[in-house]
Amino acid sequence: MLLKTVSELNDFLNMSGRSGKTLGFVPTMGSLHEGHLSLIRAAKASCSLVIVSVFVNPTQFGPNEDFTQYPRDLDRDCHLAFSTGADAVFSPEVDEIYPPGAGTTVDVSGALSETLCGASRPGHFKGVATVVTILFNIVRPDAAYFGQKDAQQALLIKKMVRDLHMPVSVVICPIVREEDGLAMSSRNVYLSPAERREAVCLNAGLQKAADYLRSGQPDAHQKDKLVSIIKNHIKAQPLANIDYVEIRDSETLTDIREIAPGKTALAAVAVRFGKTRLIDNRLLTAD
Ligand code: PAJ
Repeated sequence: MLLKTVSELNDFLNMSGRSGKTLGFVPTMGSLHEGHLSLIRAAKASCSLVIVSVFVNPTQFGPNEDFTQYPRDLDRDCHLAFSTGADAVFSPEVDEIYPPGAGTTVDVSGALSETLCGASRPGHFKGVATVVTILFNIVRPDAAYFGQKDAQQALLIKKMVRDLHMPVSVVICPIVREEDGLAMSSRNVYLSPAERREAVCLNAGLQKAADYLRSGQPDAHQKDKLVSIIKNHIKAQPLANIDYVEIRDSETLTDIREIAPGKTALAAVAVRFGKTRLIDNRLLTAD
């Protein structure tokens, strides 16, 4: 069932006898692909009722970003969501989420919101934390499903839920990739054929760092060495412009100098191809 308003959503929840059922929630901005569908499948596997939201959230886009151009196709999204097991799609208008006069925001302070994508996209994570809080309050799910593709977002949501004692369990699902390794993203449709071919360099660069970490070389655990391996691989692509390449603590995103044996770090990259900004990441575990 397609639900456009909070009141339709409440009617749906009452009708479906939500008490006694576990409610799974998959927030999205639509333009669904296999990455999103993997979250719906994971929710369906553990929850008796699954709601998918499709809402292109204006507050997480910067003034020069692609809010108006962001791909939208609600019919296609509904078809995909329902055929994957969603019980309802909640797709509100902007005024429904942010009624005139709304002005309360949620800001997760510190490295989780200020570094990496937070540094390149000021205000982005405030917009994400705010809309996810609003959606959680409207849907009141037992469990919410997010992708590791947006690793920083996943960490931020987990911290927000912890800090604010939100009664929802946050489940993080693995990155779904195209056959050549490119992480699936709604923004991949912006790429020209030449950019699309080069875009595999994000994953390939991360893979090279993972290989080097296991190489046994004396500097194999050094963050600076691993970062330069990734950067050099990406820089070799003529159309790629690096926004950032970083290796950070995998929970707090604070700086590290090396990946100590037995420890895991997060390698995260953001690369522009023309106006299109792609992100990818990989957890690196040292033996
Ligand atoms: P969106 O980019 O549509 O992504 C919705 C969810 O799908 C996110 O949790 C994201 O991490 C996950 N996802 C995207 N690509 C994926 C892939 N290749 N593999 C696995 N999961 C993937 O992220 C957002 O929307 C918004 O910020 C949102 C949380 C909905 C708030 O507006």
